[in-house]
Amino acid sequence: MSELSNALLQEIVDEVRPLTAQGKVADYIPALADVEADQLGIAIYTPDGECYQAGDADTRFSIQSISKVLSLTVALTLYEDAEIWQRVGKEPSGQAFNSLVQLELEQGKPRNPFINAGALVMCDLLESRLTAPRQRMLEFVRRLSRQPDIQYDRVVARSEYEHSARNAAIAWLMKSFGNFHNDVSKVMETYFHYCSLAMSCTELARTFLYLANHGCSQNEEWAVISPRQARQINALMMTSGMYDGAGEFAWRVGMPAKSGVGGGIVAVIPGQMSIAVWSPALDHSGNSLAGTALLEKLTERLGRSIF
Ligand code: DON
Repeated sequence: MSELSNALLQEIVDEVRPLTAQGKVADYIPALADVEADQLGIAIYTPDGECYQAGDADTRFSIQSISKVLSLTVALTLYEDAEIWQRVGKEPSGQAFNSLVQLELEQGKPRNPFINAGALVMCDLLESRLTAPRQRMLEFVRRLSRQPDIQYDRVVARSEYEHSARNAAIAWLMKSFGNFHNDVSKVMETYFHYCSLAMSCTELARTFLYLANHGCSQNEEWAVISPRQARQINALMMTSGMYDGAGEFAWRVGMPAKSGVGGGIVAVIPGQMSIAVWSPALDHSGNSLAGTALLEKLTERLGRSIF
């Protein structure tokens, strides 16, 4: 087994790089379709703040659905747990992240907070309790990542809004079942801004350290959520973070993880490390193809996963 080091990460980045030519960059909006596919990066943080990185670890990209973990986390800081889980489930959906089928059959209650429907409910909850939910999220990620210049990519957010028919349909369907309380357009604006957050692997790995560190940020400085809530989020990431690819990902990588169509994946080994990888081309489930391969190599070389 190898020790964790920058040299090891560089080695696996070099081995995986040819795979960046496979898969398909998200093309539902021009701002994502234009990203160069041959980029590949990885960053790892340990709870005491040690950082390892290789490849394009400092290039910012659109975090997209990785933000769904952040909106759930902020909701957990504002509501009693029961208030959240009566509006969204904890089960894998086995469907595409933007599917409407299950939602109709299950009376407007999304299967979990990591599909679009579930994240829209989280944003609806935030809208009900916060006067400025977008500003709150920026403050949250800037504090966790220690990067005061993290921003929304307004071009991505606007472009998402112009292609929002499916998310609007999801939100309106939930409204028809009484599971959506605020103005659909207003909540979608917030949701798209969260998806448009531009962050690098290094910034993401540092931000998500709280899930590897019993709910606390680096060096125990900030108890973001309780150890129990951190454990529960990790469980949900394990079963639902990679959508209909969750089983295959658990088989190959064996870590709780969350992907985004920008090509990022955040993964966690509780108590040990938070990891962020990025490569823009996606597999058929909408998860980064080379990013998944990079994580698979990492678990093999380190001999570490949660199993
Ligand atoms: O709302 C959407 O469909 C996109 N903005 C985000 C989807 C996404 O990242 C799903 N993840 N793989």
